[in-house]
Amino acid sequence: MGTIKDYIRGKKIDSTPIWFMRQAGRYLPEFREIRSKNSNFINLCLNPSLSKEISIQPLKRFNLDALIIFSDILFIPYALGQFVEFEKNFGPKLGELNYKNILTKSDEEISLKLNPIYELIKLISKDAILNNKDLIGFTGATWTIMVYMLNKKSPKKKIDENIFNYPHQDDLIRKIIQAQKIHIKNQVESGASLIQIFDSWAGLLDEDKIEKYIYQPTKEIVQFTKKLGVEVICFPRNIKNYRKYCEIVNPSAISIDYTIDPKKIAESINLPIQGGMDPKYLLLDKNDMLKNAKKYLEIFKNHKYIFNLGHGVLPETKPENVKILVDYVKDFK
Ligand code: CP3
Repeated sequence: MGTIKDYIRGKKIDSTPIWFMRQAGRYLPEFREIRSKNSNFINLCLNPSLSKEISIQPLKRFNLDALIIFSDILFIPYALGQFVEFEKNFGPKLGELNYKNILTKSDEEISLKLNPIYELIKLISKDAILNNKDLIGFTGATWTIMVYMLNKKSPKKKIDENIFNYPHQDDLIRKIIQAQKIHIKNQVESGASLIQIFDSWAGLLDEDKIEKYIYQPTKEIVQFTKKLGVEVICFPRNIKNYRKYCEIVNPSAISIDYTIDPKKIAESINLPIQGGMDPKYLLLDKNDMLKNAKKYLEIFKNHKYIFNLGHGVLPETKPENVKILVDYVKDFK
């Protein structure tokens, strides 16, 4: 027995550790029940007793090794004073970016606005359900947060060139990094044992811009997080060169998306690897799902591997399939 954090650090454990991105969410009827009574997503996340209940829901059903807090990466723009809302069937919608106002935000103001998230972590860390499991805190990567702040909604397949022409971008990047650091520090001090950095739009950036917008800021955040005494998992979704990313950014573990060939990754990267399986396999019949899970488990048999998906659990997933998958992974020898 041991936690994912210990496993990353070299401790032997009996079975492949497992958790899922978006393990708390719409595929669970008990989540939809709470969600239907709370139409404002931001307020729901900032209600520690409800967000604790939601964070714990998947652990009541499945034998998972980690709990990820029920929150969102867009709490960084929110803490910096940008308006954020979630519209049904549309996704996130952000307000005008008042850059002068954003630059005035102090660590104290950011911490105060996000305090319910730290209360949530403290509440969870006292709960018996967490026994020998990790409590995962998270943040978006600087690049992905900047994309949301300037684009004001999820980008489609291409990045709007205006983002690169934004005149105050260097100041904005520094401010995002400041907010990420204080948010990570507060999560760790409240009880988070692992931090995951979600760079959902890493794959949309051209090679010549990766150094400035991804490698440099993420490396800084990773170094900062490691110094706090926890491990940090990076998920640069769809990035073209995972190996180079790992060499430069040097996270504790790397989470891979489902477009990537797991064999090639296993051969080219020494760091612990997480994820990979396409979440769509959970929508198929049991045998096809488990065949695919087996493929990942076999490929990573001699590699430090944390089972997860190549992106979040899809809303149309049947909870029964999640249970079958978790039990299969825990029994796999
Ligand atoms: O279980 C968990 O993984 C923890 C909770 C979590 C949420 N968002 C809850 C959520 C986490 C880790 C996130 C991260 C997040 N948020 C990312 C990175 C991961 C990824 O998906 O690439 C991004 C890009 C966001 C921004 C965001 N939040 C979008 C684009 C959307 C709308 C689209 C969608 O997936 O529903 C959200 C809303 C959101 N965040 C929901 C949940 C459960 C759905 C809210 C609802 O309508 O009920």
